[in-house]
Amino acid sequence: PKKVTTQTVVEMKEQGEKISMLTAYDFTMARIIDQAGIEVILVGDSASNVMAGHETTVPMTMEQMIYHASCVVRGVDKALVIADLPFMSYQVTANEALTNAGRMMKEAGVHGVKLEGGRFVVDTVEKIVNAGIPVMGHLGLTPQSIYQFGTYKVRAKEDAEAEQLVEDAKALEEAGCFSLVLEKIPAELAARVTESISIPTIGIGAGEECDGQVLVTHDMLGLNKEFNPRFLRRYADMHSTMTKAVQQFITDIKSGDFPNENEQYD
Ligand code: KIV
Ligand code: NA
Repeated sequence: PKKVTTQTVVEMKEQGEKISMLTAYDFTMARIIDQAGIEVILVGDSASNVMAGHETTVPMTMEQMIYHASCVVRGVDKALVIADLPFMSYQVTANEALTNAGRMMKEAGVHGVKLEGGRFVVDTVEKIVNAGIPVMGHLGLTPQSIYQFGTYKVRAKEDAEAEQLVEDAKALEEAGCFSLVLEKIPAELAARVTESISIPTIGIGAGEECDGQVLVTHDMLGLNKEFNPRFLRRYADMHSTMTKAVQQFITDIKSGDFPNENEQYD
């Protein structure tokens, strides 16, 4: 299959074709998603919540992200694979950020990195991009700043924060980002950002005007029951499907039904 590149997704915006993106943290899930035809796979630091059971994305380390990303890369033939740089791997100095972005590409084999923030990361983005590493930006509800925000509510409802977000988006484009995630902001603002920049916006809880959409795979598959934000559409009820399968397995063992004569060796 023809591989998706950063150029491909930029061209998709120009041609008005919507971009699809999902998260993956392991080989098996990445393989399913890639073969289903997704264009971009994000090794999100949401692995912290989904894989590790942490309450925030803050504890994630470079080592853990490289491990997840390398597992995903081995499962993918076609999709563009982007990995999150974890909290504190890119904020201290631009040099350290470049070293870590380079590790992610070299050791895990991803095609680019994503990092959160606006004007404060612009110099860092430029440095990484100049080294030949594609960067995806991330604005709005940036989960690594949760202790500064205090809540997971919609961001940039106030004019000042909205204006700043538009400026940040333009600055990130100028710094060389090939794409931008917009998380949990008003649809109207996301539409405005989308038309003010020429790189594609990929929304999560950011409305229909974004150039693409992303969801956390475990959420859209209905693997958990607890997380119910308004933006989440569930495409399967895997929690029920898996619960029933496990319960049937237990029942079959207890009743002696499993294994049957065809499921054992002479
Ligand atoms: O970590 C993640 O899954 C993300 C997406 C929700 C954009 O950053
Ligand atoms: Na993330």
